Amino acid sequence: MAGKPTISESQKLYVKDVEAQVFVQNVLVGNGVHSKHAKIIADCLVQADLRGVDTHGINRIPSYIERIRQGVLDPKATPSLAQITAVVAQVDGHNGFGFLAAHLGMKNAIKMAKESGIGMVSVKHSNHFGMSAWVVQQALDAGMMSLVFTNSSPALPVWGGKEKLMGVSPIACGAPGNDGKDFILDMAPSIAARGKIFKAKRRGESIPEDWALDKDGNKTTDPAAALEGVMLPMGGPKGSALSVMMDVFSGVLSGSAFAGHVTNPYDTSKPADVGHFLVAIRPDLFISAEKFRERMKYLYGRVVGSQKMAGVERIHFPGEIEILMREERLKSGIPYVAAEIDALDREAELVGAAKIKVNAGAHRTMSKL
Ligand SMILES: NC(=O)c1ccc[n+]([C@@H]2O[C@H](COP(=O)([O-])OP(=O)(O)OC[C@H]3O[C@@H](n4cnc5c(N)ncnc54)[C@H](O)[C@@H]3O)[C@@H](O)[C@H]2O)c1
Repeated sequence: MAGKPTISESQKLYVKDVEAQVFVQNVLVGNGVHSKHAKIIADCLVQADLRGVDTHGINRIPSYIERIRQGVLDPKATPSLAQITAVVAQVDGHNGFGFLAAHLGMKNAIKMAKESGIGMVSVKHSNHFGMSAWVVQQALDAGMMSLVFTNSSPALPVWGGKEKLMGVSPIACGAPGNDGKDFILDMAPSIAARGKIFKAKRRGESIPEDWALDKDGNKTTDPAAALEGVMLPMGGPKGSALSVMMDVFSGVLSGSAFAGHVTNPYDTSKPADVGHFLVAIRPDLFISAEKFRERMKYLYGRVVGSQKMAGVERIHFPGEIEILMREERLKSGIPYVAAEIDALDREAELVGAAKIKVNAGAHRTMSKL
């Protein structure tokens, strides 16, 4: 079935990452967020846009601010940390931004890993933290391997079920590579992240037929109908099992909501109570750091140098497409559509902050990956 056309290049408006960062910081500060916190949140969102994960970038700002306006997310909350053992800590997000709770959690997981080889942090009473890869990157910037789990609101049936129960909760991990060729896996356990459906709805686009079912259990290409129905898990029962795994480690273990009780980020009736599970691991525990990097370089070469199947031009390492996209967007700016810029500017207007600065001259420089 022919879908609605996607937005053409000429309809895109480009914004430099620094402009997006300043804009988001100002809007957050205008809504009562401490400037030090606003900087962290804005950075996580802009990093998502730079990596091409537009579904979890600054376009999420209106939905987060609406939570503040409705009193279900505390803009002033500062997460707190309790040390449980030498290598285990617990963060309480106090219903503030998920970015802050996860950032504090990974910061301390890294500290413990530096001292003891590994650091594990459970996070409770948090909120949506966007793209998991920014937490993985935080660990990579400190030379650490990591596991980054979160649970999320019901969107996916368990295998054999028909109701939304588990979250489309991403599983993410990373390892430092040689020469910037890091391993970053960040994937939702559904065929596509639900954010991709929100994005299609926002942009008036249709979605592929195999992403979701409508509320009556029929395949649909209409994002609005898909959001009323269920997401389809990747790999059948294996995708739904991964989603249960995210709930065990992030929800059951942390003391946060679980088993279908996390609130959808767009439902402003109550706090979300999201849980996360974060681990940092020093890569030189069993072999030297140098040997580890050499072996990662060898693995990278084996993966991208593998014999290609028909029609494939290039094989990428997990995370590499996003790293290349980031390099491109740092130069070209980040593309948005007019409706997205308008929604962001409306938020700025409400708090008397400056509109987002669109860079008229910027354009895409690289062919689609
Ligand atoms: N916080 C939340 O509750 C939440 C929920 C759902 C999704 N998300 C985020 O949404 C984002 C999108 O998730 P997704 O599952 O749609 O991601 P995706 O399908 O675009 O990518 C998944 C993984 O596969 C790798 N990959 C993709 N194409 C590849 C290729 N051709 N060759 C080699 N590797 C390739 C990517 O590098 C990535 O690591 C993630 O950043 C995730 O954290 C967040």
